Amino acid sequence: MLLLLAFWSCRTEPDRYMQWREYLGGPDRNHFSKLGQITPGNVSQLEPAWTYSTADSGQMQVSPIIIDSILYGITPGVRAFAVHAGTGKEIWTFGDTLKKWSHVSRGVTYWEEGKDKRIFIGIGHHLHALDALTGKPVAGFADGGKLDLRTGYPDRALKKYVISTTPPALFENTLVLSVRLSEDTDAAPGDIRAFDAMTGRPIWTFHTIPYPDEEGHETFPSDAHLNNGTGGANNWCGMAVDTKRGIVFVPTGSSAYDFYGGNREGQNLYANSLIALDIRTGKKIWHYQTIHHDLWDRDLPAPPNLIQVKRNGRVIDAVAQITKHGYVFVFNRETGEPLFPIEEIPVPTDGLPGEHVWPTQPVPAKPAPFARQGHELTEDDINPYSPNREELLATFRKIDKRHFAPPGPEGTLIFPGFDGGGEWGGAAADPQNGILYINSNEMPWVLTMVTTPQDVMLSGLSPGERVYAINCAVCHQNNRSGSAESGYPSLVDIGNRQTRQHIDQIISGGKGMMPGFTQLTSAEKQSLIDFLLGQEKTELADNGGVQKKRLPYRSTGYHKFLDRNGLPAVGPPWGTLNAIDLSTGEYLWKVPLGELDSLKAAGIPATGLENYGGPLVTENGLLFIAATKDGKFRAFDRHTGKLLWETRLPASAFATPATYSFRGRQYVVIACGGEKLGTKKGNKYVAFALPEQQKNF
Ligand code: HEC
Repeated sequence: MLLLLAFWSCRTEPDRYMQWREYLGGPDRNHFSKLGQITPGNVSQLEPAWTYSTADSGQMQVSPIIIDSILYGITPGVRAFAVHAGTGKEIWTFGDTLKKWSHVSRGVTYWEEGKDKRIFIGIGHHLHALDALTGKPVAGFADGGKLDLRTGYPDRALKKYVISTTPPALFENTLVLSVRLSEDTDAAPGDIRAFDAMTGRPIWTFHTIPYPDEEGHETFPSDAHLNNGTGGANNWCGMAVDTKRGIVFVPTGSSAYDFYGGNREGQNLYANSLIALDIRTGKKIWHYQTIHHDLWDRDLPAPPNLIQVKRNGRVIDAVAQITKHGYVFVFNRETGEPLFPIEEIPVPTDGLPGEHVWPTQPVPAKPAPFARQGHELTEDDINPYSPNREELLATFRKIDKRHFAPPGPEGTLIFPGFDGGGEWGGAAADPQNGILYINSNEMPWVLTMVTTPQDVMLSGLSPGERVYAINCAVCHQNNRSGSAESGYPSLVDIGNRQTRQHIDQIISGGKGMMPGFTQLTSAEKQSLIDFLLGQEKTELADNGGVQKKRLPYRSTGYHKFLDRNGLPAVGPPWGTLNAIDLSTGEYLWKVPLGELDSLKAAGIPATGLENYGGPLVTENGLLFIAATKDGKFRAFDRHTGKLLWETRLPASAFATPATYSFRGRQYVVIACGGEKLGTKKGNKYVAFALPEQQKNF
């Protein structure tokens, strides 16, 4: 018996890096493979082995997974599908026959126990559990095979916009959801929630906007957890799981509304944070906030990479988090200790009226940022190839370029842009030697704030708030804090100091310098007092409480800073590919990624292009990436950054490739949906492999 046990325990599970069973290659999200049939020497012979055409076409951000002989992916219209991994022949599809959902979806999660094999996919407001072999809903999961993504939210958020664009993280039977929310004042809370993969039952919730008895509650206004105008701090981009330790690493986005935080005074934990949670209990182990009181939509954009680095001859299990603004934060996985010093630098605090700009922001000493930083640009950096360079310069001189300059009416340079720097494609890594491979955008954007018109302000208010805004805010302030210098008392928690009758009397009769308000009807007065006492019943009054609360300032929208030709206002590189050794924090190489035929024809050296979707690296020295709008799929030497192979895809692929082996042949597959960045739409998954006669050497 003992002998038998010994025998069984010797049977190691197949190497994780020989397979591609999870989103981005595995729970460590390293986009890394040990398959070695395709080599730097033969990569130039790759050719399409099969192509699968989805029924609908358009943008696909999917990185597919491969389980045994089946590849699972998602169509542009967000239908799940299964095809044969060796031929691309369709096995099943699931979802509406018409393109119904306008969101993207980046992948699926596979779970199995014995013969029960499931695929989880987020479509609209639901997470569906499908039989992996037939594509039929698994009746025993949640509500007839689908889980409402709002399950477990407070009442106020039960009808809000909650979808899932990134597949759930998985550990044993625990699924942890990634959700996309509104980024305005109607955002649902970004609670991190775990569910049972077998039944769909809730397991735990971690409040990223903490409740009164929870650590971090003091970093938001005390009522922020009630989700009445403050929400978000959600994980939308996915997570990484340390399966040995049972830790899930959860990067979060900013708290909503994105660009004005007058109603969310404080540091705003756990927004913009990397949070390490015990995946069995949801208890926090450590956290690190990468942006305090975010005013720039600096969501953490991608799952972190779980890697090993060397320090003073020791090997350390580390977690590396890329950011939109170009910094990489590297921590000890267990303790959260930063592996390079991080300095809190003082930043400008002259924000909009009512704003509570945080006075410092964290900047790691190493590695250097992987994208140029807006505050370092000079007039020499304005696009030299631009026909309207003078106009661009005029704008450039006017806008605020200071590091972490708060949003304002004159416009603030966001560079790298709202989509990074780093974006949802994430970084690839060689987990054993701690080398990180990041594709990056260098696209300038301008954020401009305007005052919300009075009528719009009022339209979003409850009846009592409305009476208050019209009659009282001028002296007691919008947020009821009053103004000590001017002698207007605060009305916050007035109910603790005055009775309803007394407040009624003051409103009607005035007091000292305060005039009486005899013109108010008694209904107006009652709702006003209810509002002041926090007794106004507004929850679920309108559209499930989804109505937006109005803030005094709004952004004019997402605007790229472009020249007349539609090219970036700053000079190249516009997109780069970077290799960083995270043991030393030093760059191994950096090359432009992508080029435009028109500029190439004019003799301009490779400019790099804006890019979406991540790289894939192989142990034997390759880095595959598409991501650019030039429609190319490229392979680089991962040790030098040298281009080894490129091919034109049927449509631009804003997606991360996957690699797998089936019956002795290695494939590299990529979803080509185009549409983004003005490119033509596509509907193909293309799997590349070496020619048949080449494969066995
Ligand atoms: C023109 C400025 C002004 C406006 C407008 C105004 N107030 Fe006042 N309010 C004051 C001043 C000044 C005081 C302090 C009076 C004193 O104690 O002498 C005050 C005091 C109060 C108090 C008593 C506070 C306390 O702590 O005892 C209440 C309640 C109050 N205001 C409610 C309102 C409401 C409700 C409105 C709108 C209907 C309103 N006020 C509009 C100036 C104003």
